[in-house]
Order: sequence, then C-alpha cells, then structure tokens
Amino acid sequence: MMNEQIVAIFESHPGEFISGQRLSQMLQCSRTAVWKHIQTLRSQGYDFEAAPRAGYRLRHKPDVLDVNLVTSRLQTAFMGHSLHYLEQTDSTQTVARELAENGAREGTVVIAEQQSSGRGRMGRKWHSPPGKGIWMSIVLKPRIPIQLAPQLTLLAAVALSRSIKRIAGVNVGIKWPNDLLIGGKKVCGILMESNAEDERLQYVIAGIGISVNLTEQDYPESLREIATSLRMASGQQISREQLLVDFFQEFEHLYNVFHDEGFSPIRTMWEANSISLHHPIRVTTAKGVVEGTAEAIDEFGALIVALPEGTVVKIYSGDVQLLAT
Ligand code: BTN
Repeated sequence: MMNEQIVAIFESHPGEFISGQRLSQMLQCSRTAVWKHIQTLRSQGYDFEAAPRAGYRLRHKPDVLDVNLVTSRLQTAFMGHSLHYLEQTDSTQTVARELAENGAREGTVVIAEQQSSGRGRMGRKWHSPPGKGIWMSIVLKPRIPIQLAPQLTLLAAVALSRSIKRIAGVNVGIKWPNDLLIGGKKVCGILMESNAEDERLQYVIAGIGISVNLTEQDYPESLREIATSLRMASGQQISREQLLVDFFQEFEHLYNVFHDEGFSPIRTMWEANSISLHHPIRVTTAKGVVEGTAEAIDEFGALIVALPEGTVVKIYSGDVQLLAT
C-alpha cells in the first residue's frame, strides 16, 4: 500500500526531486521507512535517482504487464481465460500446481512480473528479473497417455518459435528438446511438470520463460555469453501483451491439432524449426555422454542420434550441445 502511495506521489510530480523529509511528512512515516520502501521499489524495477539534499526522483517505472489489455484481446476458447497475475512469486510452477490440485480448469495461466526462485530444467535456476520477461505456467489437462506427455514440450517450442517470429520478427531455432535459441544464445526455456495417478495423466504444468525486453545489464556476468532477449536480438522493445495474446492463440491452435490429428503435424513443424537435426551433437544424459549426429525425432519426441560406429540410440531426456561442423 505504502509503495503504491510513493509511486503515486512521484507520478503526480513528474521529473521532480522530492526530499525524504517531505515524503515522510506526506506518508506520515519515518525517513528510514521511506528509504526502505524506495529500496523495495528499486528491487521491483523502479529506477530512482537520489541526490544529496534534493531527495529522490523517479526516472523510470518498470514496464508493468497490462493484464486487461491481454484479456480484452484474447480470441481463444480456453487458453488464458483464467489469468492469475502476480507481481512477485517464488515460482509460477508452484502456484499453478496448487491451482491444478484445487481443480483449476485447462488453460489457467499464472504469470509473474518477477520470480525469486525461478526453476529451470535439471535443477537449474531461471533468471527472472522484474518487468522484462514473460514468466508463466499453464495448467493443461491433455487427453493423452502419460508416455506421450513429452510431446507437449515440443508442441510448446513450436508455438513459441512461430509466435516470436510473428511478433518480434526474429528467427528462433529449437534445440532439442525445448531450448529456443537466437544466434546460438538462449531466449526461452520450457519446463514441463506432469502429475499422474495410477498411470493416468492428471495435469501438466507447462512452465515457459521468455526473455523479452532484458538488456545486457539485466543479465549476471555468468549468463551474458549464453543468453539473449528478443529486444537484444531484434533491436526493439517488444510488447509482452501482444506476444502473450498471439502465443495463447498459437498454442491453443496447435494443442487442438495435436488432439485431433496426433503428433505427426507437430513433429513436422518442429523439424522445420529445429537447429539440432543433421548436426553433430553431444548429449549429456543421466547415464552418460553420447556424441553423434541428430537424425530425427521419433513419434514420442525422443531424439534419434546416429553414433559414429553406425548404431543409432534414442535419447529421451538430456542436454544437447551443438558441436562445430
Ligand atoms: C529451462 O530451459 O531450463 C526451463 C526454464 C523454464 C522457466 C519458466 S519461467 C516460468 C516457470 N516458472 C519457473 O519457475 N520456471 C518456468
């Protein structure tokens, strides 16, 4: 509440410095409390300039997602109809799972401006700073046998690459199974978590992270060489609202195709956007490292790798590294 009041004060004095003393009078709290609130707002992406004696000036507000705009433009039958927007959470996966456990309907989306413990595949962390990305989890209730669940990861990757191409105008390549790369750097990640009872799929939580408007400074040093954003790749600010609306529609379309016609059409689209196929690769799996050439994906979405000695192995889960040709 107090944070909102502070923002409102600065918005009614655009470009002006306001002293800590004046703020504390206006808000009827101590100057230390004002300073703490300013720090909290800074951690949420508000950029305050501080000058000795003059006080604070609001330079830049974070780009806050306009959920109403998304809802008003939605043209889907179910995707995104129930949209839970959070300013901050630990991981949208956790929130979506709780909603699913409590009977949330298919297409329910949890989206957070910022995640404190964003999760990636293989126990990795997912960098989710405020106001610049799409960090969301979707509740799905696919009518498929449990062993086909990995196909949904490939479906999500296809939907993302098509939508991104349309909205941001950049080509995104899919690296098996679910990394989306631009110029060799990761721009999106997908984390599918399933829940089954007695071998029956109850629900799937599709976790999707899209680095939309991050700049180089938004990445820690350790990620700068390996990660990029749509803004960095396209040279322009991308509307997260527009991307979401388009993605919901694309995903719903492919999801319907998948239920009506099976995996085959999705597989063809995946192959058309893949950068892993017909390429020398190294795959790190729980059982060890395999090197060979990625040949195709099978009807379950597994990667078929031809080994140098002529045998072929199927990889169901692992991390792919593209090797120099
Ligand atoms: C990966 O490539 O390792 C998968 C990254 C998935 C990140 C998304 S962001 C929204 C959702 N919530 C999480 O904690 N993780 C996923």
